[in-house]
Parts: sequence; C-alpha cells; structure tokens
Amino acid sequence: MGKRILLLGAPGAGKGTQSKRLAETYDVEHVTTGDALRANKDMETEYGTPRSFMEKGELVPDGMVNEIVEAALADADGYVLDGYPRNLSQAEYLTEITDLDAVLYLKVAEDELVERLTGRRVCSECGTNFHVKFNQPEEEGVCDECGGELVQRDDDTEETVRERLSVFEENTEPVIEHYRDEGVLVEIDGEQTPDEVFDDIEAVLDDA
Ligand code: AP5
Ligand code: MG
Ligand code: ZN
Repeated sequence: MGKRILLLGAPGAGKGTQSKRLAETYDVEHVTTGDALRANKDMETEYGTPRSFMEKGELVPDGMVNEIVEAALADADGYVLDGYPRNLSQAEYLTEITDLDAVLYLKVAEDELVERLTGRRVCSECGTNFHVKFNQPEEEGVCDECGGELVQRDDDTEETVRERLSVFEENTEPVIEHYRDEGVLVEIDGEQTPDEVFDDIEAVLDDA
C-alpha cells in the first residue's frame, strides 16, 4: 500500500508545488480539490457552479468536495491530499473514509503568502506553477515544461487573496489545531526554498 499523506497549508504555502514532487517520488496519486474544481468550474450542481464560490475566494459547499475526495481516495493506492479538509466538518468526513500515514503542515507567514500568490503564473496547458520573481520561466509567459501559455489564476488578485486568507484563518486553522491536538501534526518550515522544504518532508516521511 502506498503512503497516505495529508498536506495542510494556507493558500500559497506551496501545497501544489510540493504535492507534485511527492506524487512522483512516492508514486502516489495527487488528489487536489482545487484542481478538480477548476477543471469543472461551470458545472451546474444543486449548489450552483464552483466558479460562483471560487471567484470570490469562498469555500464551495462541503457536499461538492466530499464526493470528489471520496471517489478519488477509493481509486488510489496511496495519495497526497492537497486542499482538503478545509473545515472541521470536512475533517470529520475524512476520518470516516480513510486512515492517514502522515499529516504535514507547511507554515508560511502571511506577507510572504500574498507575494507568492499575486506573483504566481500557471501553465494553461499542463498546470505547472511559476512565479514572476521566485521561480521565473526561461522565457516570459511561456511554460518551460510544455511551451504552454502562462496565465494568472482568477482568484490570485490581491483582493481575492486577502479573502482566501481570512477564510483560511476562520475555517482551516481549526483543522490544523485539531490534528495538533491529536498529536499527529508535523510542522514544516515552508519559507525555505522548494528543495529545502522537500528535503524536510522526505525526512519526515521516511520515518512514517
Ligand atoms: P486551491 O486551488 O486549493 O487553492 P489554495 O488552497 O488557495 O492554495 P493554492 O493552490 O493557491 O496554493 P498552494 O499551497 O498550492 O501553493 P503553490 O504550490 O501553488 O483552492 C482554490 C479554491 O477552490 C478555494 O478558494 C475554494 O473556493 C475551492 N476549494 C478547494 N478545495 C476546497 C475544499 N476542500 N472545500 C471548499 N472549497 C474548496 O505555490 C504558490 C506560489 O508560490 C507559486 O507561484 C510557487 O511557484 C511559489 N512557491 C511555492 N513554494 C515556494 C517556496 N518554497 N519559495 C518561494 N516560492 C514558492
Ligand atoms: Mg494549489
Ligand atoms: Zn506547461
């Protein structure tokens, strides 16, 4: 059985960046509610479209994501879960459907998060992340991996970023405290370089 890894962190903490590497290194599935919702932004559901929540930086209703996660985990032989759970009721749901081998929290200060998110550029073809300062592509606006066009996510404007951070504080920090209280949370310094962050994560997982 592959490792079952939960990666927690604020918007911009580097969950996507590290999950991509983890999925390759440990040969597990990258399960991410954010990407799944973006791929189905205009899907009509009983709650409305994902876009109507995401553009404002709000959480989509639990029912929308619980189903996505349950189906994805059922199909996976090991996974890194990124972007879920984001509130206590999702955390309870997760406890009912799976066990976890590691719970990691990427810790980054708020000022740094704002700069990372407003400067992020994403490949419209393959989803690889870049940053206008911290992680520049060889050619401006062009993906190093596939030549696709780099774009800014709709929710990466300063105003929406501030809203996402306040939603995180209110809804997701209690989830982090919940795992801390259970004694399973491992905190990782997310302000190091991506390579250093990855080394720290590997050191934890190789013991798990
Ligand atoms: P989602 O897509 O999950 O967004 P998020 O949690 O806000 O996180 P991000 O993807 O913005 O950041 P990240 O931690 O992945 O950082 P990244 O690696 O890209 O969710 C989007 C929306 O979907 C939500 O607002 C909500 O509406 C909805 N949603 C999703 N899940 C939901 C759920 N469970 N329930 C309800 N609603 C849900 O890095 C960021 C930038 O920093 C990049 O430019 C990168 O190059 C750079 N960077 C990364 N690491 C470093 C480093 N170490 N040093 C310097 N720069 C770095
Ligand atoms: Mg992400
Ligand atoms: Zn690309």
